[in-house]
Order: sequence, then structure tokens, then C-alpha cells
Amino acid sequence: MRVVVIGATGHIGTYLVPRLLKLGHEVVAVSRGNREPYQGFEQWKGVELLHLDRVAEEKKGAFGKAIAALEPEAVIDLLLFHPSSLPQILDSLSGRIKHYLYCGTMWIYGPTEKAPTTEEEPRRAEDDYGQEKAEIEARLLEEARRGKFPATALHPGHIVGPGWPPIVPAGNLNLEIFEKLGRGEEVCLPDHGLATLHHVHADDVAQAFGLALEKPAAAIGENFNVVSPQALTLRGFCREVAAWFGAEASLSYLDWNQWKETVSEYEAEVTWEHIRNCPCGSIEKARRLLGYNPRYSSLEAVHESLDWLIRQGKVRLPSLTRV
Ligand SMILES: NC(=O)c1ccc[n+]([C@@H]2O[C@H](COP(=O)([O-])OP(=O)(O)OC[C@H]3O[C@@H](n4cnc5c(N)ncnc54)[C@H](OP(=O)(O)O)[C@@H]3O)[C@@H](O)[C@H]2O)c1
Repeated sequence: MRVVVIGATGHIGTYLVPRLLKLGHEVVAVSRGNREPYQGFEQWKGVELLHLDRVAEEKKGAFGKAIAALEPEAVIDLLLFHPSSLPQILDSLSGRIKHYLYCGTMWIYGPTEKAPTTEEEPRRAEDDYGQEKAEIEARLLEEARRGKFPATALHPGHIVGPGWPPIVPAGNLNLEIFEKLGRGEEVCLPDHGLATLHHVHADDVAQAFGLALEKPAAAIGENFNVVSPQALTLRGFCREVAAWFGAEASLSYLDWNQWKETVSEYEAEVTWEHIRNCPCGSIEKARRLLGYNPRYSSLEAVHESLDWLIRQGKVRLPSLTRV
């Protein structure tokens, strides 16, 4: 199939494009051309690269037409954040493509009410990002169920891989916590460290997109959580990371209002984003309908990412890979 991937050179695209090629698809990779994939760009032989800026093209009303002009049979849209972007997609691609796969997020659910969260749960996001992503999902699936547009929605958790920092055990992006854990130094967590994080390796997200593309009858009109098999609590995450370095986690706890004063405003903001949602997703539907079978647990995904950070000198700890 001729597949256009919008936003093809980032976390997901790095793994998705090679998977699509392996499945025998013809791939057109759309991005602004500001960056290369995190790895393996040399394997992108035969991939058609189209450099355009979605935001600028949308403003001109030209984005949907530019994608349609590529004559795709399927479109994987990794870059759809605003419901206002939908009309150009629907107007230009309706009746012209076999499958449209939208990248959503676990943030659509808002704070977890039932764990693990299934796709049936209400969308109660409290932030613009989650609300807009939920609105896009609802509109696409409604079109699909009315037989008007062949859409599927996939909802990844925190995407992890070698090449960028993962969400750390304090729920933010400050890598220092890894060093403290690895050296057995005390780490303070908000509340009782019982908030959950739900990571997923970027290659498993790519796997899910590949499977959905291969199984349109099961996927069209449907939505799927795409996370690792099990979420982690902050405290469980800390204990495992410390153990990787032969240390024992020394954990203390403060209630949120006290804890947030111990970190920068930015770190507190990112942690809050994560711990107020406490994502914990079910992948039973993706397993059942698509055969989704993640290669990585949350810890395995972070292990790979952390080893990369250590080898890059971004985290000062001994390498996790015994070569
Ligand atoms: N990151 C997470 O943890 C996470 C979690 C859940 C869901 N998601 C969802 O995942 C999707 C993002 O995928 P990702 O994490 O693989 O993205 P990413 O790593 O941020 O990569 C973004 C890609 O889009 C391109 N791009 C950015 N702005 C563009 C523009 N204006 N016009 C054309 N291309 C543009 C980038 O290349 P250039 O810079 O060269 O243009 C790159 O190829 C989003 O839908 C997001 O909601 C992410």
C-alpha cells in the first residue's frame, strides 16, 4: 500500500517507517525536514521525503490538498492536535483513501477512575491537549461508524526509546533522579509515591500502527490504547531503577504542596501533569482485535533509554549494557 506518514521523523516515525517498509509498503514521509529520525536513516531507502510545514499549509487551506495530491491509499497522522485541522483532512481525503490512522493519547481519559482504563471509559481530560485529542477521536470515529471515513485512533502512553529522555520516576524530565537512585541516595516523592506512569516503547507504538494497517476490518471505526503491559507506580519505578545499579532505593515522601516547593516550577508542572492523570491503560482490546504484543515492559523500555543517556554522558552512572 502507498502510505503517507505525517510527522514521520520523530519518536514513533523512527520505528514506524522501517516497519512499514518491512511489511512491503511504499512510504511517503512528511515533515518540515528539520530533523532526521533518531536512528537507522540509512535504511530509509526508497522512502519519498516530502518537506512541508503543516501549520503554514493549513493556514493557506492547502494541507489536505497537498496530502491528497500524494495519492495515498493510507495515511498515518502522527501530528493532529487540533479539531480545527480536521475539516481539511476530511474534505480532501474522504472517498480517496482506504484507511486513516490517527495518533491520539492516553491523556484523553483524564485522571484515572478505573484501572486499567479500557477504551470504554469516559473522556474526562482536564487540559486542552487531552480535550482536543478526545474531540478529534470522537469526530473521526463517528465519521468511521457512519461509513463516511475509514478512521482508526491509537492512544499511546509516555513514549520511550533511545534518543530522548523518558518520563522519570518523579513524573518529570529531570534526569538527576536516576543518578540519585543509582547511587542509593535519598529520593523524595510526592504523596506516597503511588501515582502511576504508563510508558510504551516507540517501537511498540509502531507495531500497533502496523497491525492496525494490516487489519482494517478489525481496526476501522475503533480506538486502541497502546501502552506497555503494566503501568508503574513512582515508588515501584524507583526501586527497580536503583536495583539495576545494585543499590537499594532510599525513599521519602512529602504531600504535594510541600513536595512541589522542593523542585523547580517547571518540574512541578510536569510532575503534576503526570500524577494528576495517573495513567494506567488496558491493552486487552489491542491484543484481542489487532494481536498487539508489546516487546517491551515499561522497565525494559526505560532501561534501554537510560542506557543510551548514560552512554551519551547525560546521566553519570555506569553503563547498563555489559558489552
Ligand atoms: N511523546 C509522547 O510521549 C506521546 C505520548 C502520547 C501520544 N503522543 C502523540 O504522538 C504524536 C507525536 O508523535 P512523536 O512523539 O513521534 O512526535 P515527535 O517525536 O515530536 O516528532 C514530530 C514529527 O513531526 C514533524 N513535525 C513537527 N512539526 C511539523 C509541522 N509543523 N509540519 C510538518 N511536520 C512537522 C517532525 O519533524 P520536523 O521537526 O523536521 O518537521 C517530526 O517528524 C502526537 O500525536 C502526540 O499527541 C506522544
